[in-house]
Amino acid sequence: MTRESESGLPIEPVYGPEGAAGRDPAVRLGEPGAFPYTRGVYPTMYTGRPWTMRQYAGFGTAVESNARYKELIAHGTTGLSVAFDLPTQMGHDSDAAIAHGEVGKVGVAVDSVDDMRVLFDGIPLDRVSTSMTINAPAALLLLMYQLVAEEQGVPAAELTGTVQNDVLKEYIARGTYIFPPGPSLRLVADIFRYCRTELPKWNTISISGYHMAEAGASPVQEIAFTLADGVEYVRTAVAAGMDVDDFAPRLSFFFVARTTLLEEVAKFRAARRIWARVMRDEFGARNPKSWMLRFHTQTAGVQLTAQQPEVNLVRVAVQGLAAVLGGTQSLHTNSFDEAIALPTERSARLALRTQQVLAYETDVTATVDPFAGSYAVEAMTDDVEAAALALMRRVADMGGAVAAIERGFQKEEIERNAYRIAQETDAGERVVVGVNRFTLDAEEPYEPLRVDPAIEDRQAERLALLRAGRDAEEVRRALAALKEVAAGTENVLPPMKEALRARATVGEVCGALREVWGSYVPADAY
Ligand code: 3HC
Repeated sequence: MTRESESGLPIEPVYGPEGAAGRDPAVRLGEPGAFPYTRGVYPTMYTGRPWTMRQYAGFGTAVESNARYKELIAHGTTGLSVAFDLPTQMGHDSDAAIAHGEVGKVGVAVDSVDDMRVLFDGIPLDRVSTSMTINAPAALLLLMYQLVAEEQGVPAAELTGTVQNDVLKEYIARGTYIFPPGPSLRLVADIFRYCRTELPKWNTISISGYHMAEAGASPVQEIAFTLADGVEYVRTAVAAGMDVDDFAPRLSFFFVARTTLLEEVAKFRAARRIWARVMRDEFGARNPKSWMLRFHTQTAGVQLTAQQPEVNLVRVAVQGLAAVLGGTQSLHTNSFDEAIALPTERSARLALRTQQVLAYETDVTATVDPFAGSYAVEAMTDDVEAAALALMRRVADMGGAVAAIERGFQKEEIERNAYRIAQETDAGERVVVGVNRFTLDAEEPYEPLRVDPAIEDRQAERLALLRAGRDAEEVRRALAALKEVAAGTENVLPPMKEALRARATVGEVCGALREVWGSYVPADAY
């Protein structure tokens, strides 16, 4: 029986075993830049433009991170990628009790538009694309970025970048959620709608498999659960009254690149083919840009070792090559010392140099999808695709990604695979050089970068000055207006922007939303 798609178009079952384009090899493979995009999303790929070298960075206060961004730009990075500290990601101010000990640690502390202004001081926002790894409070950081761009005189319509804005994977694997799934998905759809009119060049979401992979997901689980999350987001936006072609061209994805290069190349090619079919045949998207799976890749952090850390330089080079041979649009290469501590300037520069060697010394940019027609890689692409489609069908049969999350399905499947990996490693069946084979009797000492604990006090002082220097009544009124809209069905971003413009803090804005929407407590919380 042929199912009706969201747009009423008759479709064969997308999640069938034949995959994206039936059995005809020529149709399954296709041409670069054409449906089903197996060979890449652009006709010329890197022969037209190399991937974006986008190094994830951020620590301390906005002052320290601004300096690191300027260093990376000076060393040749071609896109920025902001890491925020946990208090910012969880919607708390740096001087909140719950923030103690985490301020500026895993990323930069941003409490208000004042910090955002310092973060991008001297960086022209009309000449750089910026990714922000922020999920539950993604709307706040996006709006503060827009406010700073306005101060720089940069029209919002010219701003390019991405907010991760993918809360579903936070429930599955990363944990920086704030609100329950319902309000979280509403906020995602509000961002889609806001960007369609205000920030048309902005990528509104980076649907991520990376963190599930880091938690132990296999390549098949990584793309199946990620694409199933993507289906949930598309259904949410369509149900909110948006036409699929109004937002789908600005969806993006984020995957890992493991050292198992051939399987990773097959994984990326399979993911593009599945997504193209889902968007055209299940959701009836008519704009080819809606069919294109554009993605960022980060090399596998979980495969870095603290033992003989220099060996990680080799791992990262192989993983980066896998991402490039797989057709990534943007790439972060890990620093070799990240299993020990935050990267030093020297190790961060080496990570970027790895990409520059791949782009400018090898010949991998001279041919589009070099593995096309390879018996091994095409067969692996078909196998990964078939297995991922079957797993997507299981999620769909449960009622979709949210329903499966509420059953703990993805989490359990990933934990099962993580356990298998651990057993194989402990048994020596899965070789980790320097850890379970080719080890040293005594490791050489390594001096890591340390974050100054006084940063937390400095950030608290900045907050005290901010609160003393703003119009408290204006902030109160703006927060009240935000709560009123959050309690209704209108888009929350416009009142949120006015609160942030009045210098309301991240903690105050998220606190106002917590009052209306509550906080998410997982079923298995103890
Ligand atoms: N032919 C024609 N046009 C081309 C082209 C080619 N060969 N190559 C590029 N272009 C064009 C594109 O069409 C685009 O123009 P458009 O925006 O008008 O369409 C422009 O050049 C830029 O190219 P891309 O969009 O391909 O590259 P970007 O780098 O700008 O965007 C992305 C890549 C994947 C779409 C985007 O979403 C992105 O940058 N994502 C990054 C996400 C990220 O950095 N995440 C970090 C996560 S870290 C984390 O989660 C925590 C840690 O713990 C892991």
